[in-house]
Amino acid sequence: MVVKLRGCVETLSVYQPGKPIEEVKRELGLEEIVKLASNENPLGPSPRAVAAVTQAATGMHFYPDGSTCRLREALAARLGLGSEAIIVGNGSNEILQMLSVALLDPGDEVLMPVPTFPRYEPLARLMGAVPVEVPLKEYRMDIEAMAARLSPKTKLVYLCNPNNPTGTIATRSEIDWFMERVGPDTMVVFDEAYYEYVTRPDYPDGIDYLRKGYSVMVLRTFSKMYGLAGLRVGYGIGEASLIAELNRVREPFNVNALAQEAALAALTDEEFVSLTRRTNEEGKNYLYQAFTARGISFVETEANFIFFDAGREEKVVFRRMLEQGVIIRGGFGYPTHLRVTIGTAAQNARFVAALSRVLAE
Ligand SMILES: Cc1ncc(COP(=O)(O)O)c(C=O)c1O
Repeated sequence: MVVKLRGCVETLSVYQPGKPIEEVKRELGLEEIVKLASNENPLGPSPRAVAAVTQAATGMHFYPDGSTCRLREALAARLGLGSEAIIVGNGSNEILQMLSVALLDPGDEVLMPVPTFPRYEPLARLMGAVPVEVPLKEYRMDIEAMAARLSPKTKLVYLCNPNNPTGTIATRSEIDWFMERVGPDTMVVFDEAYYEYVTRPDYPDGIDYLRKGYSVMVLRTFSKMYGLAGLRVGYGIGEASLIAELNRVREPFNVNALAQEAALAALTDEEFVSLTRRTNEEGKNYLYQAFTARGISFVETEANFIFFDAGREEKVVFRRMLEQGVIIRGGFGYPTHLRVTIGTAAQNARFVAALSRVLAE
């Protein structure tokens, strides 16, 4: 290419999604694949969402509601907030992007744990901002070390809670302590993509800090608990004045019409949500027992995935699992750890059988 890119673009890593099932089938000539790589809902989408999409399909020649009015109102009613406190994105990923574009100037610092969700770092770089990465401590966000790295230049702080890929949480008392140390020119982003899975009572709800008047943005998604990852719907909750600014950088019709209908319907699908929670808890216990029985250490999770130590080079384990038809995820900077999404009982059993074979080699 002859035309010169912005300098920062060359430094960006391309997001590596979990391997698509069809690609693996073709590559390895396998018939049946279990994908436990992207923390998707193993039960499929919310049935109510499927019905809503089917019904809405004949209206797809119309542009969608550009302000996602009904969905914002439904979310606001649930959360006990005004709809002006909510913005909807093409996945919560898009809201991360909007926040970066709206807030980051070159030289601003963006504080984040590492490893964590891999979009925070490139989005900082995209804007010429400086990612400040604080290693986890015992697989958890090191809140004290993060506080020590706050500076007058810190514009954004990402708290990934529960943290992806480890599934651990920062507790309410840790976050209370941290928020007291954050300066007035810093915005704290609570990425709560796995909020609906958490069972621990000391889990802090980011919205409480918004209510207390701190400068925060809370991100949640329909991709996990509601099973709509393929449609792309996530939302942000923040001060009305911030949401108004984010709307300036938002694409005009960023959330497609079918996605809006699906999300509205999924929100009412209590039965699907409880079944998903129950499946996740049962799968979690099964996998904990299977790991323990095989002497494999793992990190206790508050999400729908488990970080475990295979005790072998993670790249090799990943490849061998793939050859057995099970896609999991590695590459988190730990030499022998990988992440597995908690699946259905049958998927979990296939994973355990494949892992046992791979580790016996
Ligand atoms: C921590 C975290 N944040 C955000 C996202 C993005 O979710 P969405 O599908 O809403 O863009 C994910 C998806 O895996 C995630 O794990």
